[in-house]
Amino acid sequence: MRDKIVAGNWKMNKKLEEALQLVKELAVSEIDSSIKMIVIPPFPFIHSVVNNVENSTIKVGAQNCAIQASGAYTGEVAAAMLKSVGASYIIVGHSERRLYFNENNSELVEKVNQSLKNDLTPIYCCGELLEERESNNHFKVVESQINEGLFHLSKEELLKSVIAYEPVWAIGTGVTASSEQAQEMHAFIRGLIAQKYGQETAGAISILYGGSCNPKNAKELFALPDVDGGLIGGASLKSDDFVAIANSF
Ligand code: PGA
Repeated sequence: MRDKIVAGNWKMNKKLEEALQLVKELAVSEIDSSIKMIVIPPFPFIHSVVNNVENSTIKVGAQNCAIQASGAYTGEVAAAMLKSVGASYIIVGHSERRLYFNENNSELVEKVNQSLKNDLTPIYCCGELLEERESNNHFKVVESQINEGLFHLSKEELLKSVIAYEPVWAIGTGVTASSEQAQEMHAFIRGLIAQKYGQETAGAISILYGGSCNPKNAKELFALPDVDGGLIGGASLKSDDFVAIANSF
């Protein structure tokens, strides 16, 4: 059985006090023990958030890491540092990083490698722009993102990774992919994995949906055969909403 995951990407939101309040609420909420809940705060809060979820099953992730291991790279944060403060996951290649910070697939290869080298699970993001979907290029775009950013991994490494499909036109817009759109892309991604790594590996990798997922639509999305949970932005900033999403499997 694949892991069922809800990961809350807080993006560049909250101050420390608010962040700790949110995780305190999450830590005491009732979540089915089969669900993996991950919170992904901005860098400065990771250490304190880790300390505040110690007595719960909640795991903590980071939103990005450097392509380098360490050294003279002012302003960068290495995967090894994130590991040392207690992170267990790293989002790699979120569309906001691809779009606003020009991250390309070859840099993402380095970030995926840095994550795995430091025993952190990469959550590798892929997804097409609206114009790419409208021009019927969405499968091609996602295929190249997966091929170029993730498929350098060995089977063993891939099995330690999570994939998130996030159509860019659905992120933060209130427009969610339809069940058909989500399922067909998730099945397509799983098919790509099966072609390269075999059916068993494809069946073992969690593929999350992201893009305006909320307590109202999570149930329908999570019931789809190839959707194994969500990467949640806006709706992960309020404990009630995030818990409701986690309980939507
Ligand atoms: P959203 O963001 O849920 O606010 O659309 C999702 C994401 O960017 O991971």
